[in-house]
Amino acid sequence: MELKINGKTHTLEVEANMPLLWALRDELNLTGTKYGCGISSCGACTVLLDGVATKTCTLPVNAAAGKEIKTIEGVAKNGNLSAVQKAWIAHQVPQCGYCQSGMIMAAEALLDTTPDPTDEEIDSAINNICRCGTYQRIRAAVHTAAKFRMEAEASLLGSL
Ligand code: FES
Ligand code: FES
Repeated sequence: MELKINGKTHTLEVEANMPLLWALRDELNLTGTKYGCGISSCGACTVLLDGVATKTCTLPVNAAAGKEIKTIEGVAKNGNLSAVQKAWIAHQVPQCGYCQSGMIMAAEALLDTTPDPTDEEIDSAINNICRCGTYQRIRAAVHTAAKFRMEAEASLLGSL
């Protein structure tokens, strides 16, 4: 089976019903995506599938074949952090950090479809669980990431 992950195609010899999370972590050593609940509830295992935030702990790997998979390892480009990652650092969001790659993937997906979300839109789109209770900082960081993205776009337009 072939999987396209972070722009690269990988060939795997795995059972079709293996959860995608297992394929990412155990077969491909992409361990930034975490295992939390295993029942599609906490969001620690979130990646983007064709741009949609998707929990991978119960998703069969064959359901991801033919789709563009993006994991936390593919968010920074050529060593440059994304606006979301920069905002996460600016707000010092993580506590233990375990849930945070899933949170960042959910935030990336939200901002791709809703560039300037309200608090309500953030709360309804990012339903991941953080046992350390970083929700307030996540919300603040999403607003900052939205601002960073808009500033980057404006400066790109200004340089044309
Ligand atoms: S580990 Fe997948 S949702 Fe919790
Ligand atoms: S930062 Fe610890 S679980 Fe979220």
